[in-house]
Amino acid sequence: MPLNPQNNLNLRPAHTALWAQYQSVRAATMAIVTGLSPEDCTAQSMPDASPVKWHLAHTTWFFETFILEPYEHNFSAFHTEFRVLFNSYYNAVGAKHARPERGLITRPGLETIVAYRKNVDARIRALLDDANVSSHVLQLLTLGCHHEQQHQELILTDLKHLLSRNPALPALRESWPLTPIAAREQGWINFSAGVVEIGSDGQGFCFDNELPRHRQFCEAFSIARYPVTYGEFADFIADGGYARPELWLSAGWEIVQREGWEHPLYWRRESADAPWQTFTLRGEIEIARDVPIAHVSYFEADAFARWAGARLPTEAEWETAAAGLPIVGHFADNGIFHPLATDVFEPSAHQPLHMFGDVWEWTQSSYLPYPGFRAASGAVGEYNGKFMINQMVLRGGSCATPQSHIRASYRNFFPTDTRWQFSGVRLARECR
Ligand SMILES: [Fe+2]
Repeated sequence: MPLNPQNNLNLRPAHTALWAQYQSVRAATMAIVTGLSPEDCTAQSMPDASPVKWHLAHTTWFFETFILEPYEHNFSAFHTEFRVLFNSYYNAVGAKHARPERGLITRPGLETIVAYRKNVDARIRALLDDANVSSHVLQLLTLGCHHEQQHQELILTDLKHLLSRNPALPALRESWPLTPIAAREQGWINFSAGVVEIGSDGQGFCFDNELPRHRQFCEAFSIARYPVTYGEFADFIADGGYARPELWLSAGWEIVQREGWEHPLYWRRESADAPWQTFTLRGEIEIARDVPIAHVSYFEADAFARWAGARLPTEAEWETAAAGLPIVGHFADNGIFHPLATDVFEPSAHQPLHMFGDVWEWTQSSYLPYPGFRAASGAVGEYNGKFMINQMVLRGGSCATPQSHIRASYRNFFPTDTRWQFSGVRLARECR
C-alpha cells in the first residue's frame, strides 16, 4: 500500500487518468456533505430516501464488494457486517438490510464510515499500482465512479427531503447566490418525420441501459424551446389544475385524492392570496416565475401537459432534439442546487435550449430495454435491467447532477408518483 496516495510515479499512464477520476469523484462526495453533523447524516425521512451516512458507506461498499473482494490479494473485509448493511439491492451478493430501516443504523458512526472510505481508497490505489490489473477491473472502477456520481445526486435530494421535514427548515448552504433570472418567451422547435437513431454511440462511458444504439421512427413533432416554469405551473394551479379530473390519468387522480396534492412538493403559502414559497437546499424562497419547475411527479407533468394542450415528449423525440447540443446548464458543480433560468445560453431559433441540467424532464416513455439489450455480466448486471418495469424515463440531468455524469443518451427512471427528485417538464406536440 503506498504511503502517499497522491504519488503517481508507480502508476501506468492508463491508470493515472482513472485514479484521478476516482479521487475527484470521491472528493466531490465529501465536499457535498461538508458541514453536516453526524445527526444530519444518520436520519432517514422516508422509505424511498436514504441517510447520507448510508450513501457514503454504500458507494464505498460498491468498490469493496465488486472490485476488492474478487481481485485484491488476501482480501479481508473492512468489517464483515458491512456486506449486508450497505448492500442496496444486489441479490447475487446476498442478504441486505431493509431500505426503510436504513435510518436505524446508528452504529457504525459517521467517523467509522469516513475511515471505511479512506481504507478502501488506499486499497483501490494499491490495486491500481499493479501494472497487470485487468481491463475488467478498470471497467468496474469506472462503473463505480459513475455509480458514486449517481449517489451524489441522491445525497442532495434525500437531504433536501430530510431538511424539509424539520419545521425550522434548515439550509444545507446558507447564502443564496445572486443570479440574474431572465424572462423568456416560449416557442416550439419543429422536427420532421423520419427514422432516428438513439442510444449511446460508444464514445465514452455509458450504462448498459443506453445500449444498443438503434433506430426508431418518429412522426413529425415539435418540442418546447424551454422547460415549463414555476410561473406556468402556478397558472395551472390557479386554473384549478389539481381539481379537474379530466386533466389527470386515472392513477394520478387517485393519488391527488388520496394524498391531497394541491401543488408540487416543497411548495407552501401562508394564505390563498400570499405568494408561493418553495423550500430549497439554501432555505425557503419565494418562487421565481421564470425558473424551470421541479419536484413534480409524472402524473403532474402529464396533467400539466394536457392542460396546456400538449403532451410529454417520447424519449426518442427528446434524444433527437438534444443530439449534438452542448452539455450546458446548471449542475451540482456550481453548488446552487436549485434550477435557474439565466442568460448564459444564447437563444437560437432552431434549437431547444436548457435541455441539460436544472431539472430532469419526464418523458412519456416507459423504462424498457432497447431492442437487443443485454445486461452486464455478473452481479453488476443487476444495476439497471431488473428495474425495467413500472417506471418512466427522465432525461437531461438536473441542478443536483454532476456535469460530467450526463449525456444525451442518459436514461434516468423513476416511478410515476415520485416527486423528491428535481423532476420537471418539457412539452411536445404534433407539428402544426
Ligand atoms: Fe447504489
